[in-house]
Amino acid sequence: MSASTKPLLEVRDLAVRFELPKAGLFAPKRHFHAVRGVSFAVPQGRTLGIVGESGSGKTTTAMAAIRLRPADGGQVLLDGRDILKLTQDELRRARRDFQIVFQDPYSSLNPRERVGSIVREPLDLMKVGEPGEERNERVRELFSLVGLRDDQIALFPHQFSGGQRQRVSIARALATNPRLVVCDEPVSALDVAIQAQILNLLRRLQDELGLSYLFISHDLGVVQFICDEIAVMYLGRIVEYAPRADLFRTPRHPYTASLLAAAPSLSRRKSAGYRRVSAVRGDPPSPFNIPPGCAFASRCPNAQTRCREEEPVLRQFGEGRVACHFPLD
Ligand SMILES: Nc1ncnc2c1ncn2[C@@H]1O[C@H](COP(=O)(O)OP(=O)(O)OP(=O)(O)O)[C@@H](O)[C@H]1O
Ligand code: SF4
Ligand SMILES: [Mg+2]
Repeated sequence: MSASTKPLLEVRDLAVRFELPKAGLFAPKRHFHAVRGVSFAVPQGRTLGIVGESGSGKTTTAMAAIRLRPADGGQVLLDGRDILKLTQDELRRARRDFQIVFQDPYSSLNPRERVGSIVREPLDLMKVGEPGEERNERVRELFSLVGLRDDQIALFPHQFSGGQRQRVSIARALATNPRLVVCDEPVSALDVAIQAQILNLLRRLQDELGLSYLFISHDLGVVQFICDEIAVMYLGRIVEYAPRADLFRTPRHPYTASLLAAAPSLSRRKSAGYRRVSAVRGDPPSPFNIPPGCAFASRCPNAQTRCREEEPVLRQFGEGRVACHFPLD
C-alpha cells in the first residue's frame, strides 16, 4: 500500500443495536441490530462513499464511528488509535481531528446565532488558537476558504441560501483543521445545480487540505462524482465494496445493480424532463425480523434455494468484495 493510500480511518466489525420498547412490563429486553459487523477503511486524502436505501444504517455507522453515538462492538482506528477506547478527556482532544457535516443546514445551524460565531464555536470549545484576534482571523480565513465573504460573517443563517448555509457548515467543520470529515448527505437538501457547486468545493478542499472524507449518500450519481471507493449497505451490512470505476462498470451484487439501474448520473439529472424513478423493486424485510440466509433474497431476481438458507459473507471478487452466493459477472 503506498503512502498516499494508507488508511487514516479503519473500522473493523462495527456493531450498533437499539433497544426496542418492551412488549410488557416483565417481558425480556429486545434489541434490533442496525449495524451488523461493518468493516471499511478511509485512505489518507481519499473519499469512501457509503450508499444504500433509507434505513440501511449509513448514518448510524458514521455516528458510531466518530462516537457521536455508542457502538456495541468493533474497533475504530484513527491513525491506528482506537477511538472507541478513548476516555472522555482523550476524546475531547481527539475531536479536533474528525468533524461532521450534516444534510440539513437549516436545522444544524442555530438560527439565533450569527454565522461568524457558529464557525468560531469549535475554536472556542476546543481552545484552538488565542481568543480574540487570532480566532477572528481564522474565521475570516475559513470564510474565504469556502467561498464566502468577510462582510457575511455578521449575518444570521436565514439570510443565506441553502448552498451558502452548507458552506457555513463546511467552514465550521473545518475550523479545527480536521483530517477526517464525515459528510452525511451534505447535498441531498439542495437543488441539483447547487449540489454540483458544493461537491466541487468539497473536492477542492480535499486537494488543498489533504482531507479524507467518509461520504454518505443514498444517491449514486453524487457518489460517482466524489468517491474513490464505495461501500454499499443493505440492512446494516456491507454487501459490496469496490473502487468507484469497478462498481459502476461491473456491479457484482444484484442490489448494487438494481440501485444503478435506477440512478441517473448528475449530468443526466440536470437535463430537462428528468424525473426521479424509485430505486429497487419491493421493500426490504423488517429490520426487527431479518430472515435467515441472504437479507436481499425477497427482492433479488437471482435468488435460489441456497440464498434463503445460508447468509453470504463478504469475499473478494474481481477488484472488490461482494456478499452474494452468485455474484454478477
Ligand atoms: N435512535 C434510534 N432508535 C431506534 N432505532 C433507530 C435509531 N436511529 C436509527 N434507528 C433505526 O436504525 C436503522 C438505520 O437507521 P439510519 O438512520 O442509520 O439509516 P440511514 O441509512 O442513514 O437512512 P437515511 O438514508 O434515511 O438517512 C433504521 O431502521 C432506523 O429506523
Ligand atoms: S445471495 Fe442470492 S439472494 Fe442474495 S443477492 Fe446473491 S443471488 Fe441474490
Ligand atoms: Mg441517514
